[in-house]
Amino acid sequence: MLKYKRISKHYGNVIALNDVTVDFPPGKIHALLGPNGSGKSTMIKMAIGLVKPDSGRVLVDGIDPISDPVKARMIVGYSPEEIVIYESLTPAEYISFLGYVYHIPEDVLKGRISRLIKLFKMEDHMGKLGGELSHGNRRKILIMSALIHDPRILILDEPFSGLDPEIARVLKEIMRKYVDEGRTVIFSTHILELAEAVADEITIMHKGKLVARGPIEELKGKKGLETYFLEVTGLTSELENLLKAL
Ligand SMILES: Nc1ncnc2c1ncn2[C@@H]1O[C@H](COP(=O)(O)OP(=O)(O)OP(=O)(O)O)[C@@H](O)[C@H]1O
Ligand SMILES: [Mg+2]
Repeated sequence: MLKYKRISKHYGNVIALNDVTVDFPPGKIHALLGPNGSGKSTMIKMAIGLVKPDSGRVLVDGIDPISDPVKARMIVGYSPEEIVIYESLTPAEYISFLGYVYHIPEDVLKGRISRLIKLFKMEDHMGKLGGELSHGNRRKILIMSALIHDPRILILDEPFSGLDPEIARVLKEIMRKYVDEGRTVIFSTHILELAEAVADEITIMHKGKLVARGPIEELKGKKGLETYFLEVTGLTSELENLLKAL
């Protein structure tokens, strides 16, 4: 279970998060939605202690990632939105290094790496340097790195960006398997159709505030998710006015 309790975060004059309280219970895939700059990545980074809230508390299975980041990282698998990988290490070297950091026994690690390589179709790329990998293959390494320690909570920031349809399907199946095993899965996306196809619950952020939360079917009603999203983020009237002025 991932919990945010009265979280606020400012960057200078910018309010990235404004008194956000929300729980992400296990057993469900949660889609985190919101316009650019609405606070999604800031929220996500707090779950592993990468960003410190100004006030409020984040808890991952009862652990505070600010006071205990090492324990939090053992619980959470995180893949970032920006693709940052070690250009001078091969994926094989990097993932083996992670196995050492997470204290994964060697035989367990070997088994996991070989299953992940097959799932993500990385057989031909594990020995290349990070800097030589294509965009999608770099994204796959980030996702494999988030999965390598078999985390109880999986948090993926824009994970589908750059993935081909086959690998996107693999990732969807992994996410579903995780929640079927009683884990928590959260992913951010701008693609509402993807949220609708993959998630059980949606959380919508707007200007640092939580503006909607619940099961997709309940929230979208008869209007559909796009109309609902545009309404709760105040974009419907903005768009109408802009189109009128065109
Ligand atoms: N390190 C930082 N320094 C200054 N401002 C920041 C920093 N990180 C985020 N912000 C600001 O905080 C706000 C929320 O940013 P955040 O990255 O959380 O949004 P987001 O919902 O993930 O956006 P996107 O959909 O574009 O990924 C934005 O106004 C952003 O400019
Ligand atoms: Mg973001």
